[in-house]
Amino acid sequence: METKEDWIKAGEIASKAREYGKSICKEGITYLELATKIETKIVELGGKVGFPVDISVNEIAAHASPFPDDVSVIKKGDVVKLDIGAHYNGYVADTACTIEVGTNNYKKLIEASEEALNNAINIVKIGTKLGDIGKVIQDTIIKFGFSPVKNLSGHGVAQWEIHTWPTVPNYDNNDKTELKRGMCIAIEPFATTGRGMIKDGKKCGVYSLVNLRPVRDSNARKLVEYIQNEYKTLPFHVRHLTKFPNANYLLRLLEREGVLMQYTQLPDVDNGIVSQTEHTIYIDDECVVITR
Ligand code: CO
Repeated sequence: METKEDWIKAGEIASKAREYGKSICKEGITYLELATKIETKIVELGGKVGFPVDISVNEIAAHASPFPDDVSVIKKGDVVKLDIGAHYNGYVADTACTIEVGTNNYKKLIEASEEALNNAINIVKIGTKLGDIGKVIQDTIIKFGFSPVKNLSGHGVAQWEIHTWPTVPNYDNNDKTELKRGMCIAIEPFATTGRGMIKDGKKCGVYSLVNLRPVRDSNARKLVEYIQNEYKTLPFHVRHLTKFPNANYLLRLLEREGVLMQYTQLPDVDNGIVSQTEHTIYIDDECVVITR
């Protein structure tokens, strides 16, 4: 029971932080200020940052998070995806929304991913097949005249794990795996004006611990120890490592040694404009959407 309560607490924090993020996502705010304020809000609400706030704009579908020297500013007409994770005792709630800043050109694109998520949630119960969730998402987005992004998926979440089994598809992949009691899953449809694929882009400054092999450099060892204590295998950003003045050097070293891996931005292959909506759902008789 404690587990479910922790999930619910994490979900409350993540959804409040998302609504706060929405309220300050205005023309003129820098990406850095937006990310930092949302992360500060998560901590104020009693949670911890589950992964660095992603601010992915227009054709970038996901995994963009500002570096400490980023001076980018939100502009009128931008289609901004805010993807937010908060954890409580390691239980991570993952939620995302899309905001079009100051214009209304992509209202239907945003509605497409929102309605796809709602329709998917409506069929979620113990025993629902993963492929059926994908089908509902795909059908809804196509009905709006857009494409689902097929090579991005929802995922399971677990304590101290942001991406775990199962993969929750955004199209009908015919997966007959059924949802089971006690699972926690994030469903995150992406709708695009392109053909529905993303590729790897620039490195984004987000890392996670992938292999705890011994390292010779004593400062690098200290950093690994800090990461283990603070994040375990959850993702973190170079901008969070203010205690380590030589963080960039140490991260490069640890990435080269295979101890850390760095994520990349995920741009649309056709430079299509992308919308995303995401909720985390705890699977039991009630199937509570914890990030509502
Ligand atoms: Co997610």
